[in-house]
Amino acid sequence: MTTAARPIGATESSEARERLVRVYVWEWPVRFAHWVIFLSLVVLSVTGYYIYDPFIISRGDGRFLMGTVRFIHEVTAAVFTGAFLLRVYWFFRGNRWARWRQYLPLGAEQRHGFREQLQYYLFLRRKPAFRVGHNPLASATYSFVYLLLLSEILTGLALYQHILGGKICGFFIGWLPALINIHYLREIHLLIMFGLWAFCIHHVYSAILIAIEERSGLVGGIFSGYKFFSEERVKEDAARR
Ligand code: HEM
Repeated sequence: MTTAARPIGATESSEARERLVRVYVWEWPVRFAHWVIFLSLVVLSVTGYYIYDPFIISRGDGRFLMGTVRFIHEVTAAVFTGAFLLRVYWFFRGNRWARWRQYLPLGAEQRHGFREQLQYYLFLRRKPAFRVGHNPLASATYSFVYLLLLSEILTGLALYQHILGGKICGFFIGWLPALINIHYLREIHLLIMFGLWAFCIHHVYSAILIAIEERSGLVGGIFSGYKFFSEERVKEDAARR
């Protein structure tokens, strides 16, 4: 969906040259899943690190700090998994920018955009590869991030099953500890957490950088769903379908 918007401070002639349109790029499931995943990662990281290395010792008979922390971790993990599943569903039901094909550099055009964006980060090109949705390098990175999130869910379930020993959970996840020793799974579960926060630092930096380069309201887009582009760029993007 696109709507016309007057660029702030545009003169008559520059407006005529570059009329901005508002494009509804990120539908609510994409935004909702993004922020639920982010907020639950904050809670899961603090509680998860406590479970790994209890940094507070509770004193007194009636306290059960580890139990409370584990409970918060497990409930948050369920919310996190729900948000992840919603986003997976939206890979098949969402608009063209949210569909799974956008996230894999399968076509020649996507591979070209991937190379262009890589050249930009390597200072071999002045301007980033422009896209209305994610640029192909960002999309491929997000596919990898979703794989990391899935690995976090699976290793977490295996650890939960190791303690709980339930039949239903064991039926779904029992294959994983049979493949990889539970002690390694615990370390993998921890290391992915650090990987995700390392990603987050670069992710916020590059989101701000590309927002400044494109002047498209990219950061605001993950809150409101809307981004802003010239009519010419929207037509260019539509032609890539
Ligand atoms: C560890 C925390 C985070 C993770 C794992 C994460 C992951 C992601 C993923 C996977 C996407 C793609 C969404 C999709 O298409 O399905 C995305 C998009 C985005 N994220 Fe995050 N994110 C995190 C934190 C943040 C934070 C703190 C910000 C704050 C500004 C942010 C800003 C954005 C923006 C602006 C986009 C859209 C980029 C675009 O339009 O091309 N993210 N994020």
